[in-house]
Amino acid sequence: MQSQEEYMRGLKQWLHNTEDVPLEEMAEFFVRRLEGYEEHMSVWEESYRLFAEVLPSGCRKILDLGCGTGLELDHIWQKDPEIEVTGVDLCWDMLEKLADKHPDRRFTAVCQDYFQYDPGLEQWDAVISFESLHHFLPERKRELYRKICRSLKEGGVFILGDYIACCEEEEQLLRAEYEKRRKQSAIPENAFVHFDIPLTLEHEKELLQEAGFTIENVLDGDAVIIMGRNRR
Ligand SMILES: C[S@@+](CC[C@H](N)C(=O)[O-])C[C@H]1O[C@@H](n2cnc3c(N)ncnc32)[C@H](O)[C@@H]1O
Repeated sequence: MQSQEEYMRGLKQWLHNTEDVPLEEMAEFFVRRLEGYEEHMSVWEESYRLFAEVLPSGCRKILDLGCGTGLELDHIWQKDPEIEVTGVDLCWDMLEKLADKHPDRRFTAVCQDYFQYDPGLEQWDAVISFESLHHFLPERKRELYRKICRSLKEGGVFILGDYIACCEEEEQLLRAEYEKRRKQSAIPENAFVHFDIPLTLEHEKELLQEAGFTIENVLDGDAVIIMGRNRR
């Protein structure tokens, strides 16, 4: 297994090698890669399985933020085909593929930015998100997490499966690079681009706790899975 030092060396090399590669708009990034997307993501297979496993039994109504083609839902519906899911994603092509894969499931597709989406109040047994929120700064996620917390039924859970920075150096390095590249390309403030800016586990947990969640479970696999329950 790679040491943290080797990992950071590799990351710095990759940042150096890609410094002139232009940032891509988020939805366009996924449209361009749709064809090989599921194969590319198959390295996370074990994490998708675990993600479905931690979903408490008895969840009937779920909101999936950044559901993409629904790799996490493939496993969740295997566990319980009756679960009703609303999936929010910016990218229509990804949602279409999901709907084509699962014509018999209770699925509502919402093609929208999840920061703008209104999830309502006390609506969901679980809100889930896999490998999507590491593209955004904590300043933006803070408000979203509060909104998610309010949208959950009493005792409902938020399950986040995501790329977590291995150390503060990684978090700070990627944030600095993200800001530099946006500035260089004059990307408008509200435009979404595909670039990874993960938080450390401590910082991600702090955000969730500030939003009103009690952290109940953390599984540290290929993707880190954090389960928070609302404190109401
Ligand atoms: C790496 S994919 C993960 C998809 C799926 N959860 C999975 O694990 O296969 C990230 C997804 O998040 C979506 N996404 C990114 N930012 C978003 C936003 N602000 N609102 C809605 N969807 C977003 C992208 O369009 C993409 O489908």
